[in-house]
Amino acid sequence: MKKIHLIVGARPNIIKASPVYNALESLNKYDITVVNTGQHYDKLMMDTFINELEFKAPDINLRVGSGSHGTQTAKIITEYEKVLLKDKPDAVIVFGDVNSTLACTIAAKKMMIDVIHIESGLRSYDKDMPEEINRMMVDSVADYCFTTCEDASLNLIKEGRSKESIFMMGNTMIDSLVKFESKFNKSNLLDKYGLSVQEYILFTMHRPSNVDNEEKLLKIIEQIIIISKEHRCFFPIHPRTMNRIKDLNLLKKIEDLPNIVLSGPLGYFDFMNIQKNARLVVTDSGGIQEESTYFGVQCLTVRENTERPITITEGTNTLIGNTIDNISSEIANIIESPKKKSAIKYWDGHSGYRISKIIENII
Ligand code: UD1
Ligand code: UDP
Repeated sequence: MKKIHLIVGARPNIIKASPVYNALESLNKYDITVVNTGQHYDKLMMDTFINELEFKAPDINLRVGSGSHGTQTAKIITEYEKVLLKDKPDAVIVFGDVNSTLACTIAAKKMMIDVIHIESGLRSYDKDMPEEINRMMVDSVADYCFTTCEDASLNLIKEGRSKESIFMMGNTMIDSLVKFESKFNKSNLLDKYGLSVQEYILFTMHRPSNVDNEEKLLKIIEQIIIISKEHRCFFPIHPRTMNRIKDLNLLKKIEDLPNIVLSGPLGYFDFMNIQKNARLVVTDSGGIQEESTYFGVQCLTVRENTERPITITEGTNTLIGNTIDNISSEIANIIESPKKKSAIKYWDGHSGYRISKIIENII
């Protein structure tokens, strides 16, 4: 049996990897080892996702934890290389654009092991984003690139990659959404917080460019306070953001306001229920731009650019830049505009299966 390693490390990796693992496993052709780098480690950033998405408990945990980019990436390379030396796989599958994706790609390619990149070819062309560096570096050495949309395939072709190594098979994050959608409705979070369907705004914020900058984070909090005067707001806070909020003593500004619900990171089912039923979403997340498009929920993205332009051209996403001061006026504009439901090619719940059938031919 050929051996495949499947790499996860951060919250979104589980959502993207689970459908691919299940599809490959059902072929009964591969010995699959799931390697968790440990980049994310809190229960609500990792284990809850493994359980809810019915993903295999990782076989190996590198337990690298948090650190600066250099430290975290270097630790993963060092630890994963030890695994590779013992267990030479025939291929390594990496997902998305996090530090774990880059580090495991480097370790594998230096040992001449094939790398398969899923969610390849996305480009923001903004090298100030750590994720853009990761995407570009992974795609420059990966052997096989699976993309979520045609524009991502075109980006790869423009960079000189051969067409034969690119496969547009759709979005595995949407596979998870489709598979578990019936479970989202069972979440009792709306009742718990007294929220009504379509009557609140969901905020998520975790990009370093928004939350690691004191002035910007302060403005984001001020904007949420202004918006909460007219709309109920729900803000599940990412650990990076919570650390910054606490460092700057900002929590007390928002925690007792009657119209703002604050929470820590939510499990997948709760979060998807909150997202699906929101009037609109204000975010800087990558995955949420895609999920909100699938749900037909309007999304305001607080960034200057996006590596997911299809969510604007064919979906519900609007880029509002990161001037921050304009968030409340942008909400006022968008809330009056008609809703849009779109169906992007291959964002249909079967991407993992299609990917597995290609992998069957190449590995
Ligand atoms: C990482 C990814 C980002 C992705 C996000 C998904 C990189 C470069 N960034 O960002 O692309 O959008 O995950 O959520 O890979 N922390 C905890 N508990 C945890 C994990 C993190 O408290 O389980 C805190 C630590 O203080 C840590 C900080 O969050 O230093 C940031 O974590 P890190 O994994 O470095 O980056 P993210 O911002 O999570
Ligand atoms: N998510 C979740 N709970 C939360 C926030 C996010 O379940 O509190 C899910 C959601 O499905 C989202 C995914 O995690 O699409 C990715 O999260 P994040 O925004 O952290 O990462 P990105 O997509 O920006 O890399």
